[in-house]
Amino acid sequence: MTEVTVVQNTVLRKLVLATRNNDKIVEIGKLLQGLDVQLLSLDAFPEAPDVLEDGDTLEANAIKKAREIAEYTGLAAVADDTGLEVDCLHGAPGVYSGRYAGENVSYSDNVNKLLDELHGVPWEERKARFRCVVALHDNGMSKTVEGGCEGIICEKPQGSKGFGYDPVFFVQEYGKTFAEMELADKNTVSHRGIAFKRFRQLVEEQWFK
Ligand code: IMP
Repeated sequence: MTEVTVVQNTVLRKLVLATRNNDKIVEIGKLLQGLDVQLLSLDAFPEAPDVLEDGDTLEANAIKKAREIAEYTGLAAVADDTGLEVDCLHGAPGVYSGRYAGENVSYSDNVNKLLDELHGVPWEERKARFRCVVALHDNGMSKTVEGGCEGIICEKPQGSKGFGYDPVFFVQEYGKTFAEMELADKNTVSHRGIAFKRFRQLVEEQWFK
């Protein structure tokens, strides 16, 4: 069984957020606000292993991250894996979005590589989408939910909020890149926002009914 704790007379289940990416932690923290769980970050488990993201799909990586951290901590764990799929690049960088420009590169290295690949490609052919798979591993079982968001890769970075490819991901509905949007707006339409809304429903059905 998932471990439970009592906080101010309320029994809360513990859920470990299986990521050390602070940008994701900020977004996911907001997206899970008000859910009746005690959310723990990996700061509570400094010796937890760094999970190698070597799966061929976002789903495989999300499940692997959640499962390994759940097995290490003995608690339920949640992880997301996200990819940017650009149509004219046949879905690249996709599952390799984090290391598009190579191993141990910065966000801007990846953005610059993407802009180089798309140099000269007209606006109407720059369609892309973020896909985010969220996995919950609990009691030896994994379940996943998914969210997506359509956009266009702009020709140069715009905006200073967000992270990763946000400065070049233009959302037509808002007329802005993710990096020009407030986090609350990004969370309303983003791949991660949609996936974690579904995740909340999953947890509420699985744990609280
Ligand atoms: P991960 O494998 O889920 O950690 O994501 C791979 C890469 O996708 C990250 O290193 C970021 O560059 C990018 N990424 C993930 N989520 C977002 C997002 O919400 N906005 C922009 N880029 C993102």
